[in-house]
Amino acid sequence: MNTKFNKYHISLLLIITTLFSFTRVSNAMDTINTTQILRDGETMISNDGTFELGFFSPGNSNNRYVGIWYKKSTVRTVVWVANREIPLTNTSGLLKVIEPGLLVLQNEANVTIWSTHTSNFTARTPVAQLHDSGNLVVKDTNDDNSENFIWESFNYPTDTLLPGMKLGWNFITNLEVYMSSWKSNDDPATGDYSYHCEPSGYPQDVLKKDGVVQYKTGPWNGLRFSGVPNLRKNPIFSFDVVINKNEVYYHFELLNNSIISRFTMLPSGIAQRSTWIDRTQGWVVYITSPTDNCDIYRLCGVYGSCHIANSPVCGCLNRFIPKNQQGWDRADWSEGCVRKKPLNCSNGDAFLKYSGIKLPDTQHSWFNESMTLGQCKEMCTRNCSCMAYANLDISRGGNGCLLWFDDLVDIKELSAEGQDIYIRMASSEIILVMLCCYGNNHPDERHNEHLELLLFDLRTITKATENFSINNKLGEGGFGPVYKGLLEDGKEIAVKRLSRTSHQGVNEFKTEVICIAKLQHRNLVKLLGCCIQGEENMLVYEYMKNNSLDLILSDPMKSKLLDWPKRFHIINGIARGLMYLHQDSRLRIIHRDLKGSNILLDSDMNPKISDFGLARTFGGNETGAKTSHVVGTYGYMSPEYAVDGLFSVKSDVFSFGVIVLEMVSGKRNRGFSDREHHLNLLGHAWMLYREERSLELVDSYLGNSICTSEVLRSIHVGLLCVQQCPEDRPNMSSVVLMLSNEGVLPQAKQPGFFTGRNIINVETSVSSNATSSTNEISITLLEGR
Ligand SMILES: *[C@@H]1O[C@H](CO)[C@@H](O)[C@H](O)[C@H]1NC(C)=O
Ligand SMILES: *[C@@H]1O[C@H](CO)[C@@H](O)[C@H](O)[C@H]1NC(C)=O
Ligand SMILES: *[C@@H]1O[C@H](CO)[C@@H](O)[C@H](O)[C@H]1NC(C)=O
Ligand SMILES: *[C@@H]1O[C@H](CO)[C@@H](O)[C@H](O)[C@H]1NC(C)=O
Ligand SMILES: *[C@@H]1O[C@H](CO)[C@@H](O)[C@H](O)[C@H]1NC(C)=O
Ligand SMILES: *[C@@H]1O[C@H](CO)[C@@H](O)[C@H](O)[C@H]1NC(C)=O
Ligand SMILES: *[C@@H]1O[C@H](CO)[C@@H](O)[C@H](O)[C@H]1NC(C)=O
Ligand SMILES: *[C@@H]1O[C@H](CO)[C@@H](O)[C@H](O)[C@H]1NC(C)=O
Ligand SMILES: *[C@@H]1O[C@H](CO)[C@@H](O)[C@H](O)[C@H]1NC(C)=O
Ligand SMILES: *[C@@H]1O[C@H](CO)[C@@H](O)[C@H](O)[C@H]1NC(C)=O
Ligand SMILES: *[C@@H]1O[C@H](CO)[C@@H](O)[C@H](O)[C@H]1NC(C)=O
Ligand SMILES: *[C@@H]1O[C@H](CO)[C@@H](O)[C@H](O)[C@H]1NC(C)=O
Repeated sequence: MNTKFNKYHISLLLIITTLFSFTRVSNAMDTINTTQILRDGETMISNDGTFELGFFSPGNSNNRYVGIWYKKSTVRTVVWVANREIPLTNTSGLLKVIEPGLLVLQNEANVTIWSTHTSNFTARTPVAQLHDSGNLVVKDTNDDNSENFIWESFNYPTDTLLPGMKLGWNFITNLEVYMSSWKSNDDPATGDYSYHCEPSGYPQDVLKKDGVVQYKTGPWNGLRFSGVPNLRKNPIFSFDVVINKNEVYYHFELLNNSIISRFTMLPSGIAQRSTWIDRTQGWVVYITSPTDNCDIYRLCGVYGSCHIANSPVCGCLNRFIPKNQQGWDRADWSEGCVRKKPLNCSNGDAFLKYSGIKLPDTQHSWFNESMTLGQCKEMCTRNCSCMAYANLDISRGGNGCLLWFDDLVDIKELSAEGQDIYIRMASSEIILVMLCCYGNNHPDERHNEHLELLLFDLRTITKATENFSINNKLGEGGFGPVYKGLLEDGKEIAVKRLSRTSHQGVNEFKTEVICIAKLQHRNLVKLLGCCIQGEENMLVYEYMKNNSLDLILSDPMKSKLLDWPKRFHIINGIARGLMYLHQDSRLRIIHRDLKGSNILLDSDMNPKISDFGLARTFGGNETGAKTSHVVGTYGYMSPEYAVDGLFSVKSDVFSFGVIVLEMVSGKRNRGFSDREHHLNLLGHAWMLYREERSLELVDSYLGNSICTSEVLRSIHVGLLCVQQCPEDRPNMSSVVLMLSNEGVLPQAKQPGFFTGRNIINVETSVSSNATSSTNEISITLLEGR
């Protein structure tokens, strides 16, 4: 009776199992040996109860398979299938271990329909054990050394990567571990899609359909895959790519073993990471790949770049154009892009930096983990077939070297989360600043390697400035007119078109420009590049939104917006920029034409000195016969310069002093004349200063914003700067100190150009052929605007 009841009970359970799968409770064994048989309806359970192994039917199918699933998850989630290609058609299957170490699945006729295989290892007493990791292992009962396992399911995954599995290649055994999708939810047979970690070139994960690449993650960069910015450090799992001569693999590990997380290749072609949520008793999708159309492998062809927010999504990298414009226009991007200027390695190509991208396919790349970026560049430069280089590993500030030896494909724009790459360009596209032209160049590689100047095409500039349209003219700088320009990528530039009369050669000009480009300070306008073509020599600067100090001070509405703290900030900024030019830069530059219109303001009202450096370049020993060079502006020029052509840093200091007094007073030196004494601004300021009425100089617009001590100090420093005698004027480092310091200042002596008008005649006659002495120079005076 009792036995009968049991039999009835079991067969009922079998039916239930068939219908609902696996509600049957097994007696919790994690191991079977050669004398034990696992029948349909019985299961093995890993020691800690995480995983369960048994027979199941997937989805709506009635076929029976042996598989492993999460014991805990109430939604049946199979992570591995043994006989995925050959199902059992009924519940008469048997799983057993046989000598010398094989796990076999047989039907009731004892025909083996699925089996593990032996390796070089055999076991005297073989067993099959289900580990807590979900790994099903065949081994000798007494040998727990994983290296001696005869077989393990982790080497033969189906569609799921579990923590601890190694997705990739073992070069010793020549075994690849990869995931492959089920055919459908009802059929675990090998489907269309597979997911690999490919070691060739430099490792990246690859999704294939019927063996054809659909998607690549981009190379591993030490932190993540270059093209998968959303796979990042998280509280659930850690992940890594291991690369050594024996193996290359991707793996992930749980940070807390009580969490269930898996990575699955779905039949639909989506690779999906999901995590089990106990509270809701469901899986939550954590990440899916590919994420968007831009992930389609090679969508935009060689040197094309995909940006999902664009329409169409494909574009050419900057300085590349579609190879086949007609195809491109029809959204056939497969032919990709070509360089505007073809490479000619014999002329010495250069490299241009591209930022914020998913690095191109590294299938044919070369890498070295210990090289610096500088060595990397050197190596790439030397080999004409090297198309690009980048840091291999971006963790710890970046190191290692990755080189590309074929056309670049599979680039995607990621902006902030993307990486930097340096792509080979015809040297005529770029001037690379590698050495400073003035001798003592430091072998300080890191300083130089990122400094790059663009060589703009005349057509680009012409287009950007609308044929140098008068509407785009920003003003007239010391050496020619300045135009606002808008590049195709939306970037605003300021173009200075140098007057054509300079007899400098192209190379000398380039050299000079490179030197100027090396001057980098936050209070100097940044030079972006230049354009040298035919007669044209042009400099391209960053565009300053808020125009020049001059324009702001001469516009009452804008002047009002410039309160004292802003003005003091500007004064200090100019002082620091000038100090850099005079003392801190390697070149020691004398500006020679410092004035309000050469002080540009960025969107945060930070002052930036412009027109620096070229003063040194031009006019050096050109004779005074030329009249087209404006190398000084009345009102800002020191007397010794204007009258005798004597020039030194102290003449810049004089100009600075004038600017300070203009800032405080809100009036321009030139054109100012007090009614009583016919004094110019300097004389007026000095007179008030002597009578201790300096505050009367202050711009009425400043109102309550002033800080009296700062204002008085600024006037005092300004007056010290404009003293008649150059030796009396402080140098710029003293000026910077004086402005910031509360210390006692020396008494200011009489300024140069004390009076107002009577000097003009003297000045305009200055057009002499100066004698040769280091500081002497021939100048031509034209009026500043
Ligand atoms: C298999 O395991 C059972 C239960 O632990 C044991 O009784 C039996 O002796 C084992 N057989 C072999 C061949 O080790
Ligand atoms: C189970 O299937 C096998 C092979 O298809 C068949 O030979 C056997 O008779 C079936 N057993 C039952 C109980 O249906
Ligand atoms: C199948 O194998 C089992 C155990 O090895 C044995 O008891 C049974 O008789 C065999 N059945 C057939 C049909 O050979
Ligand atoms: C297995 O044995 C073969 C032949 O004895 C040998 O060539 C091979 O290297 C061995 N493989 C491993 C993984 O030890
Ligand atoms: C792991 O997660 C469980 C459940 O969320 C939590 O109770 C436990 O403290 C966690 N352990 C660690 C080491 O964080
Ligand atoms: C490359 O430049 C060299 C030297 O300027 C020139 O002789 C050669 O014709 C150029 N080659 C190509 C393909 O333009
Ligand atoms: C990698 O670069 C380092 C430093 O330049 C060098 O010593 C090493 O030999 C290189 N390794 C390979 C494999 O080229
Ligand atoms: C350039 O690199 C390629 C690929 O590594 C190599 O085959 C070729 O020999 C190299 N050429 C030179 C000149 O080093
Ligand atoms: C620029 O000038 C050229 C030639 O003078 C002319 O063909 C072109 O249409 C002009 N472009 C613009 C935008 O004015
Ligand atoms: C400076 O530029 C910013 C941003 O373009 C603008 O908001 C601000 O009003 C400007 N200031 C002046 C004084 O023009
Ligand atoms: C400038 O001076 C240098 C050396 O003093 C001289 O070689 C050069 O010819 C001069 N250039 C001009 C344009 O006079
Ligand atoms: C300027 O040059 C001319 C001709 O070279 C010469 O006659 C004259 O004396 C020079 N003047 C001065 C002030 O050196």
